[in-house]
Amino acid sequence: MTRTLLPDLTPDRVAAAARRVMARCDELARVTATPGEIERVYLSTEHARVNRLAAEWMREVGMSTRQDAAGNQIGRLDAIHRGASDRDAPALMIGSHLDTVPDAGRFDGIVGVLMALEVVRLLRVPGPDGESSLSPLPFAIEVVAFSDEEGTRFGKALLGSSAVAGTWNDDWWQLTDADGTTLRQAALEFGLDPGRIGEAARRPDELVGYLEAHIEQGPELDRRGQSLAVVSSIASARRFQLVVEGEARHAGGTPYDMRHDALLGASEAALAVERICRGEHHVIGTVGQLEAFPGAVNIVPGEAHFSLDLRGEFDGERDRVWDALSRDLDVIMGRRGLRWRAREVHNAPAVMCAPLLQDVIRAGIRGALPDAPDDPATLFSPAGHDGMSIGAITDVGMLFLRNPDGISHHPDEAVSAADVALGIRALAESVLHLAAEPR
Ligand code: GLV
Ligand code: MN
Ligand code: MN
Repeated sequence: MTRTLLPDLTPDRVAAAARRVMARCDELARVTATPGEIERVYLSTEHARVNRLAAEWMREVGMSTRQDAAGNQIGRLDAIHRGASDRDAPALMIGSHLDTVPDAGRFDGIVGVLMALEVVRLLRVPGPDGESSLSPLPFAIEVVAFSDEEGTRFGKALLGSSAVAGTWNDDWWQLTDADGTTLRQAALEFGLDPGRIGEAARRPDELVGYLEAHIEQGPELDRRGQSLAVVSSIASARRFQLVVEGEARHAGGTPYDMRHDALLGASEAALAVERICRGEHHVIGTVGQLEAFPGAVNIVPGEAHFSLDLRGEFDGERDRVWDALSRDLDVIMGRRGLRWRAREVHNAPAVMCAPLLQDVIRAGIRGALPDAPDDPATLFSPAGHDGMSIGAITDVGMLFLRNPDGISHHPDEAVSAADVALGIRALAESVLHLAAEPR
């Protein structure tokens, strides 16, 4: 039984699309603030450069382009209506992000944007002017390259997609980067008008849904020997910046019974995070930053700063871990004569992928993989994605690609061209399955 909606799509054409995606991932990897590494943060000159490249590639497949008020790069393929373009038709958004963590891999986010462009290339039909293209489907297609998913520069993730979701918070303009530049200042320098941020927001009635392809960022598909998975939900997340205060004193002259070593308190806190999360199946916690002050070899640390990233499949379990940790911190710091405080910098609830979009992605995977089981892998995503914000305005669906060894947020991050080819086909088939759904 044939399950494909793209019977005329030759393997050669899909393989060429995948090769283009891989080559463009390499090209974007060269746009970096740090020579020898990949680092591209929000509102940087590298951000502007990749947006220009993405816009060029969007126009190449016949899309009209714009950069929105939050620096997201958007391409649109209008729907066709009686042979002409229908500028007002609601759009299916397909995309991911182009910003990176420090010393990043080349696929996280990026591959999803480039795959979306290949889906447009496969599905588009020529427009009446011979230059532009149109969507032959009952909806427009928009490819969105989100500007800030990682939160690397301002410590607040999902800034680009929050603007699109209309959940931008004006307090964020005061966030600062490591150099003390405020988000407001950075936006102005980038050429954006903070007063117009609201214009990036989309209304639910303008959208049909949001689809995103992304590497898994974990080992599950690799372990199962499978290429693609449907995502069931995206983890809820909370992030904190914590400060421990003790007393800075002479490293030689201060006996242990007189020390209030803030770094040791923070270290014990990091171990408590591991202990508590190991006892909870669905919550995972990470201390990824830890700094001691004043930071000299011969001074007992008087202050320590550390970050905490907590993710859970369910909001309640994640919150229970934070409550348990807070109680432990009181005990640990009390015993060491230290004080602690925490500032929450990010709080996003778990987002369920829409059952309909899970079904169309499942059908898309079956179309791309004739030998796939009737029920392809379904995975929950402990990693965060732009869909976490976009879920506020429209249905979200995600397709995962196998990530060999599951390594991500690391230069060794990988995906094979063969899996990208399958993913492109599955994503295109998913879009067609969605188009076939009664609306
Ligand atoms: C984004 O990649 C995140 O999950 O932190
Ligand atoms: Mn990431
Ligand atoms: Mn990502």
